[in-house]
Formats: sequence, C-alpha cells, structure tokens
Amino acid sequence: MNYAELLTPVHQFLLCRTPQAWIDKAKEPANLPVLLQDHLLCELKAAQTAMLLLRKYAVDKEGSLALLEWLKPFEDFAYRFIGDAGSLRNSVKLSRNLAGRPDVSYSNDIIEKMVLLIREELHHFYQVLEIMQARGIPYTNISAGRYAKGLISACKTHEPQILVDKLICGALIEARSCERFAALAEVVDAELGQFYLSLLRSEARHFEDYLTLAQQISTSDIQPRLKHFLQIEAELIQSPDADFKFHSGSPI
Ligand SMILES: [Fe+2]
Ligand SMILES: [Fe+2]
Repeated sequence: MNYAELLTPVHQFLLCRTPQAWIDKAKEPANLPVLLQDHLLCELKAAQTAMLLLRKYAVDKEGSLALLEWLKPFEDFAYRFIGDAGSLRNSVKLSRNLAGRPDVSYSNDIIEKMVLLIREELHHFYQVLEIMQARGIPYTNISAGRYAKGLISACKTHEPQILVDKLICGALIEARSCERFAALAEVVDAELGQFYLSLLRSEARHFEDYLTLAQQISTSDIQPRLKHFLQIEAELIQSPDADFKFHSGSPI
C-alpha cells in the first residue's frame, strides 16, 4: 500500500497538521486506553452518522428498520454493555439490499456510498474492540470530546443546507482521522501502528465520498462553506484543550 499517495490529498485538504504536543501525549502508554476507548466510540458514531443520513434522505420505512437492526448489536455493546468482539464479528454486514426512495434523486448515490462506509466503520469497531480485549483494556463508555460537537454546532439548521453542512463535517472528521492515524502509526508499537495504517485507505476514501456527495446535493459551489468549516476544524485542532481524546486540540 502506498501510504504517501493516500495521505497527500488529506494533508492538502486540511489546514493544519496535528500539533506535536498531541502526538507526544498520545504516545504515553498511560493514555492508550482512553485513545482506544474513544476511537472505538468514534467508529460507532461514524456508522451512526452515515445511517442517519441514509434513514433521513435515502431509504423507505422498511429500509430504515433494517438499518436500525443492523446497528443494534453495536449500540447494545456500547450503551448497554451486551456482547463482546466475538458476538459482533458476524454483525458487520448488512444482510439485504436497500432500495432508494423514488422522490429523492440522489438516494441511490447516498445508499451506495453510505452502506459501504457503515460496513467499514463497523468492521473497524470490531477490530478496535479485539485489540482492546487482547490488551486487557476494559471498555468504558467515555464522554465525547468537543471536536464533533464543535463542527456540528456550526451547521445551518434548514434544509437542504443542513445536509450539505453535515456531509462537509463528515468529510473533515474522516480526513482528520486519517491524518491522525498516520501520525500515530509512527509513535505507537508495531502491531498498533500496522492497524492504524490499515485504516488509512478507507478513511481517505470516506472523506472524498462525503465531499462528492455534498457537492452533488448542493445547489451551489460548496467551496465557500467548506472553507468556513476548514477554519473551524483547524481551530479545534490547534487551540488548547484540557480533555485528551482522539480528535482533541492541543493538550494543556
Ligand atoms: Fe473508521
Ligand atoms: Fe471512516
């Protein structure tokens, strides 16, 4: 796999790199549990966000129920402490095809990209959980950091701009995750480093899929809106942040 080829567009897209102080903090072994616990929940949130878009804009009621069922074992684990990596292994794939809503012109595009994305995020969830179990790191439902909230709170509240904004936020979160996995891969142990590198390909594609969808759905050029969100994102990454998490700002 050519990592440089995958990373160049990500580095060109984001306005800043992860601060060295964050990387220094992330490589302290004492911070590995929080990093993995937060990463695990980020994978679930990535799947949930994509699913929300699918349910709201792309599938009918029947499809919506099938999607909820798909996610349930992962949510049962995360919020109700039911199951383990072994029981989730066979739940990563959606067992049926979804039909796009005929009244939404882009419904099949959303389905095609988002179903694959969800499957990959659920597989990542399973992989992170497996690593945690192998290392004896317990799962705890830790609170979310400020990052995603900071982006989502800048989204417009009316349609269709809210959808475009959320897709842009999705692109930024995926791109930042990709950038952080690459930075982390250099400072963690070999096994974990290999795992982080293995995630790059899907996260790099996810960021581009979100951007493509945003432009497809928007009635105007998304660049001005994208620029606005890129600045908010860079501020969240570079400004001081006392709460160390996967997407946190510069540690105090
Ligand atoms: Fe992921
Ligand atoms: Fe992703």
